[in-house]
Amino acid sequence: IEHGRPQRAAPWWQGERGRLLERAAAGTPVYVYHLPTVRDRARALLDIDAIDRRYFAIKANPHPAILRTLAAEGFGLECVSLGELEHVFATLPDFDPARVLFTPSFAPRAEYEAAFALGVTVTLDNVEALRNWPETFRGRTLWLRIDLGRGDGHHAKVVTGGAASKFGLPLAAFDDFVAQARALDARISGIHAHLGSGISTPAHWREVYAELAGFADSVGTVETIDIGGGLPIPYKPESRAFDLAAWAAGLAEIKAAYPRFALAVEPGRYMVAECGVLLTHVTQVVEKQGIRRVGLDAGMNALMRPTLYDAYHGIHNLSRTGGEGEAAFDVVGPICESGDVFGAGRMLPAATAEGDVVLVADAGAYGFVMANRYNLRELPREDVLE
Ligand code: LLP
Repeated sequence: IEHGRPQRAAPWWQGERGRLLERAAAGTPVYVYHLPTVRDRARALLDIDAIDRRYFAIKANPHPAILRTLAAEGFGLECVSLGELEHVFATLPDFDPARVLFTPSFAPRAEYEAAFALGVTVTLDNVEALRNWPETFRGRTLWLRIDLGRGDGHHAKVVTGGAASKFGLPLAAFDDFVAQARALDARISGIHAHLGSGISTPAHWREVYAELAGFADSVGTVETIDIGGGLPIPYKPESRAFDLAAWAAGLAEIKAAYPRFALAVEPGRYMVAECGVLLTHVTQVVEKQGIRRVGLDAGMNALMRPTLYDAYHGIHNLSRTGGEGEAAFDVVGPICESGDVFGAGRMLPAATAEGDVVLVADAGAYGFVMANRYNLRELPREDVLE
């Protein structure tokens, strides 16, 4: 046991083989979400006293059952488009708009105006919007998203800080933004930074809080500091669980140093990635020039993460144990692109055959919501385990 790093619990789906095979029999590909796991992650964050406000980044998984579950646990919701805002209020008609954040990127002016009309908290990350659309922002209360000049994340495509990233107000423009806001009688009540997704160092967020607190002080009207989302989950067999205790200890320390602000977080992946699996059927098993391939009825159309980010997802045959021996397979989908590969050289039962049910693990975040109908494949179904 490595000292100080938490051990991983066995995944929930190991105890749910029967119900999962039943759901797969009703038609694949299907995403299945395990709500007790969502509740478990929610409660882990609720137990951290240093955090004052928790928002779920619904882009990770806006399934109504997941939104209802997290809302019932007291989470607020973070949205990035008018579509997401409308979805929240259609799903939860009585949800308090004060518990909703709107953090768009390069959104049209009309979306900011619609968000103000809904009464949600609007975050802005550039000075041009204030300058070009003064009547939209005059007299409003705003949050400001800052680019602290660096970013982090599991892949270059999800780093959201630094000069190469389109997100956030650069530090050099901070004084200008504050002056423009004052000129419009707009009040900056929150300061925000989200520098990337899948960040593995627990100290990242306390450093962000400390830096933002300096800016918050100089504005004078800031009540909330939002240190973003970006918490990782252990996708690979050799990955350790994120050290939530170390994360919480860092937040407690920094909160004690700057106690006058409410501390907000907005995780997406951490809340839902491990609750979701993608169930598929094997279509064909083919050997070509020394490489054995297992073909699934789900590919990059159903789950884009492996193709887009070289992301790793565990792949397991639910229909057989490896008792009769295992072999290495490339696991591919039915899409007409060479990048349509879920995993290369994966160990699966050697007897894996057409009709077997294959589970793709940790697919609850950025899975179904990023699926598409490329090649005119149907979208996957979604299902829930209570
Ligand atoms: N807040 C803001 C402003 C964000 O842009 C994001 C994610 C989050 C919170 C939540 O980040 P999380 O806790 O999930 O890391 N499709 C990619 C991830 C894209 C993340 C986009 N922004 C993936 O599958 O890895």
